[in-house]
Amino acid sequence: MAEDIAASYRAEVTNGTRQHPLGQSVLGIESSCDETAAAVLDGEGRILAEAVFTQSEEHARFGGVVPEIAARAHLQRLGGLVRGVLAEAGLGVGELGGIAATAGPGLIGGLVVGATFGKGLAMGAGLPFIGVNHLEAHALTARLPGLFPQAPAYPYLLLLVSGGHCQCVAVEGLGRYRRLGTTLDDAVGEAFDKAAKLLGLPWPGGAHLERLAATGDASAVKLPRPMLGRPGCDFSFSGLKTAVAQAVAKGLYRPQDIAAAFQTSVAAVVADRARHAHAMLPGATALVVAGGVAANQTVRASLAAATPLPLLAPPLRLCTDNAVMVAWAGLERLRAGQSDPMALAPRPRWPLDELRPPDEVAVTPPSSH
Ligand code: KG4
Ligand code: ZN
Repeated sequence: MAEDIAASYRAEVTNGTRQHPLGQSVLGIESSCDETAAAVLDGEGRILAEAVFTQSEEHARFGGVVPEIAARAHLQRLGGLVRGVLAEAGLGVGELGGIAATAGPGLIGGLVVGATFGKGLAMGAGLPFIGVNHLEAHALTARLPGLFPQAPAYPYLLLLVSGGHCQCVAVEGLGRYRRLGTTLDDAVGEAFDKAAKLLGLPWPGGAHLERLAATGDASAVKLPRPMLGRPGCDFSFSGLKTAVAQAVAKGLYRPQDIAAAFQTSVAAVVADRARHAHAMLPGATALVVAGGVAANQTVRASLAAATPLPLLAPPLRLCTDNAVMVAWAGLERLRAGQSDPMALAPRPRWPLDELRPPDEVAVTPPSSH
């Protein structure tokens, strides 16, 4: 039934008998890791309401995200967050133009909670549902109206540096993404968290490590810069982490010096990878950075100097996991005539390269009954 609605909506949009109701709002839901979030955008992409519940306190004593705790927390929080953003936007579910929820990649428990919640609302109100790829949502954030004086034109480079993801992506159009490089082991945020843990800092440790590093001398400790100068733009951080562990174990260095040396190494590696990514996409119009590590001032400064491209860093709340980006990706896809069947299953692994642009998406004919 709900699939029929979505299929006929898709067909109507595609054959031009129905426009995506511009001026109608989209609800976005994010629950792929340890942030529970909801947001409402109007049909132009203006933010009407946004809310994020960060679960880090619930995971901190375990030193990392515990999937079962995350799924339960999403379940407990999501309803309240959605009610809250709809009330703030002054809209009922029936007044929306569509509902977008992250459908992957991420932790399956959380994805099931958010996607099922979104589908249920969409089904109940007869609205199109969009199962958003979380990485696509990060990739499209920079196009959010009003975020930058000029939205980056395709193609542009996305450098995603968070606790769970570490990749360079060529963003060539809606649904057109090419992963240029990824990490062979740890994500960069994960490397920050592990180094911070070795230095006795609380989890998540990236921001703590940055504060500690501010008082240190990076030249006091020699640490490796893995992958520097290698062709392509893959990353690797396990050797650097081991070197930090060895430096700590020696007991000869001040923790702030180790922190500063670690941060300097990471910043140099990330800048080098961005340079290589630019060489792989010479026509890029901008370098967009996203993910929690984008908050790091040393990494940012190093990235700004790495290429002649403008460095676009969305404000931190839109760089880290949030539902505005999910609603925006949903709106972009709705405008292009796309929506997803209710049968869409959340995917813990969902590489960006597997998405398809609107003109290549097969449209299911509306059912005859
Ligand atoms: O994007 P994000 O909130 O999502 C997840 O991956 O969950 O990124 C969190 C990551 C953590 O690893 C955290 O330690 C790191 O971003 N991070 C930082 C800083 N602030 C957050 N790393 C380095 N310097 C910071 N200032
Ligand atoms: Zn993310």
